[in-house]
Amino acid sequence: MNARPVEASAFKNVMRHYPTGVMVVTSLREGEPRGMTLNAFASVSVEPPTVLVCVNREARSYLYISTSQIFCVNLLGAEQIELAHRFSGKTRERQFEDIGYETAITGAPVLRNSIGYFDCEVVGEHHAGSHSIFIGQVVDCNARSGAPLGYYNGTFHDFGIRVE
Ligand SMILES: Cc1cc2nc3c(=O)[nH]c(=O)nc-3n(C[C@H](O)[C@H](O)[C@H](O)COP(=O)(O)O)c2cc1C
Repeated sequence: MNARPVEASAFKNVMRHYPTGVMVVTSLREGEPRGMTLNAFASVSVEPPTVLVCVNREARSYLYISTSQIFCVNLLGAEQIELAHRFSGKTRERQFEDIGYETAITGAPVLRNSIGYFDCEVVGEHHAGSHSIFIGQVVDCNARSGAPLGYYNGTFHDFGIRVE
């Protein structure tokens, strides 16, 4: 590899042009739930059903996922913007206070009213720069009809699309 990486500002500037959905990735460690807002998510494989999330190793959630080896990807609906803010680092303690959630098969929280979720067991972790790519095998998933919360150009959006 000869070429040098581009400046972070140039990288971020192009990334702003890429629209994504918004998720809260939850986990559970020693009985304590933790969650973080995330948009670095992708489908990896259908056979077996596998997804990936990219988590900053300095985020508290990193410790929870790497220790417990479980995570649940909660796909936020357009009306759940408040949860996106709550789980983006602003609430340090008692993140789940006053929030309705159920417990997934793995034990991770499934946020009530999210438009879908993938409950996962970690089957791989790869370091890439500041982040770790966690590969998760899906052990349970479900979805409801509704509009997704979107993220584009540094802000949250209702893209005006929905699945019935
Ligand atoms: C829209 C949005 C997308 C984000 N995507 C990611 C991501 O893909 N990976 C990541 O590590 N942090 C991402 N973050 C930042 C984390 O939410 C934030 O650093 C984290 O909640 C702090 O976690 P901690 O309380 O576990 O330390 C994103 C934040 C926002 C608002």
